[in-house]
Amino acid sequence: MVRVLFVCLGNICRSPMAEAIFRNMVAQKNLSTYIEVDSAGTALWHSGKPPHPGTREKLAEYEISYEGMTARQILQGDFERFDYIITMDDSNMENIQSEYEISEQVVVKKLLDFVEESAEINVPDPYYTGDFDYTYELINEACKDLLNYILKKHQIKVRG
Ligand code: 4NP
Repeated sequence: MVRVLFVCLGNICRSPMAEAIFRNMVAQKNLSTYIEVDSAGTALWHSGKPPHPGTREKLAEYEISYEGMTARQILQGDFERFDYIITMDDSNMENIQSEYEISEQVVVKKLLDFVEESAEINVPDPYYTGDFDYTYELINEACKDLLNYILKKHQIKVRG
């Protein structure tokens, strides 16, 4: 089992969007038994809340489920449990690096690091930009590249 945790600041806009999109891609390839997906925020503010209405609207537009998803703060234990911790921007990265002990086994990278020649290096935060369309586009494209990277790295074969 490969475990992937997406991380942003509040865990209501970007990382739940990435979680839902990535889980949907994994399910479409019949790989749900091989790849587990979750998300968390570096801040505690929105703990227990569902994704932001803007994120819900984009996911609904593409018929991607966000059922039962609620925000939570990242825990030290996540660095032992997950194989990949995928942040949305440099600020998430700095927060993680200053607050947690990061073991050797876990890969901690920004989502757009997996995109060759990406237009951005950080996923813009729609909580501030209001542009959920652009954020969705970036996350969706990057999730395809991340999934391909993981499938290759872990020699997971897509059947059917
Ligand atoms: P996210 O966006 O990190 O993509 O979930 C934010 C959500 C909430 C806040 C900031 C960013 N906030 O300040 O409450």
